[in-house]
Amino acid sequence: MDTKVIRMDEQHIDPAALREAGDIIKAGGLVAFPTETVYGLGGDALNPESSRKIYAAKGRPSDNPLIVHIADMAALKAIVKEIPESAERLAEAFWPGPLTMILMKSDLVPCETTGGLDTVAVRMPVHKVAREFIRAAGGYVAAPSANRSGRPSPTEAKYVAEDMDGRIEMIIDGGDVEIGLESTIVDLTVPQPMILRPGHITKEMLEDVLTCVEEDCTMMRDDSGQAPKAPGMKYRHYAPKGDLTIVAGTEDVVASYINEQLAEQRLIGKKTGVIGTDRTIGCYHADVCKSAGNREDEGTIARELYRILREFDDESVEVIYSEAFDTSGIGQAIMNRLLKAAGHKVVNVQ
Ligand code: TXA
Ligand code: MG
Repeated sequence: MDTKVIRMDEQHIDPAALREAGDIIKAGGLVAFPTETVYGLGGDALNPESSRKIYAAKGRPSDNPLIVHIADMAALKAIVKEIPESAERLAEAFWPGPLTMILMKSDLVPCETTGGLDTVAVRMPVHKVAREFIRAAGGYVAAPSANRSGRPSPTEAKYVAEDMDGRIEMIIDGGDVEIGLESTIVDLTVPQPMILRPGHITKEMLEDVLTCVEEDCTMMRDDSGQAPKAPGMKYRHYAPKGDLTIVAGTEDVVASYINEQLAEQRLIGKKTGVIGTDRTIGCYHADVCKSAGNREDEGTIARELYRILREFDDESVEVIYSEAFDTSGIGQAIMNRLLKAAGHKVVNVQ
């Protein structure tokens, strides 16, 4: 199949191109599109055949449910059993935006879309192209991140093309995404609302609206002996091909520890890489040094992380060391993804 690429950013909405994209979805095809978090791989959420195609294109296990994307509140009612007050309040505060809510599903949503669960994940993105596309597609677009299973989520259209060219009908290229990490997921089907995946909307922000929000204890550790509550979080996501270790501690000690390790690895002929920050990256002696951004503005790090992990693969780096990041604010989402990428390999140096 030929994958058609069209360019459209938020300032230049092209209604004719959106109609074409929407018609592909209505006919059961797949279209990748930009959102504020990462690119999504869209299909008709109410068509079981479309969901099967999404799993096939991604190479994703079909027990891993998809997020249903909507464009307005009116669309929510038909796909859920009921809208709890907590959902109304969160929607009021954070929709449209990078928040996904888990609710009890209605019969309209096929089991293929929810991986056999009786709950459904719903998100209303704020990206203008995403919302206009969802409307053109009939109002309900099932979309996982538009990467092949196991690879980092795409933060620009060229990475979608790398993973999906020839597998889907169309890619809408909306340029670089704004946030760079996937949406926060909150489960509202349990007695106490629970975060299943950290993201740009933090626990503190949610607690401003709902007073008490719990966190899935598997989010930041792998020794809980429990399975993550979001089925997708159990897979070894985001992992680069190289062997990644996170090094935590004070700045100077981290830098000298990493440099010692790099020297050893280079002696045995390994191609080495480092993930540092703007301030520290100049101190490292690796084959490939990449700054994730600026610690004073962790949004920069969130935006760069997946691109960096992909670039290490492209450059065939074999051993990678990364500085650790603060886990407050968006930092929790950054460390959650980095810990997964490293298979929870962390060295603490003091
Ligand atoms: O920012 C995002 O959320 C992006 C963009 C495209 O919107 N989408 C995204 O989708 O990250 P995906 O499929 O890569 O991740 C969805 C996560 C998976 O971990 C999945 O297991 C979980 O959501 N999930 C979906 N439905 C669920 C449900 N009913 N109960 C629990 N977890 C669910
Ligand atoms: Mg994903």
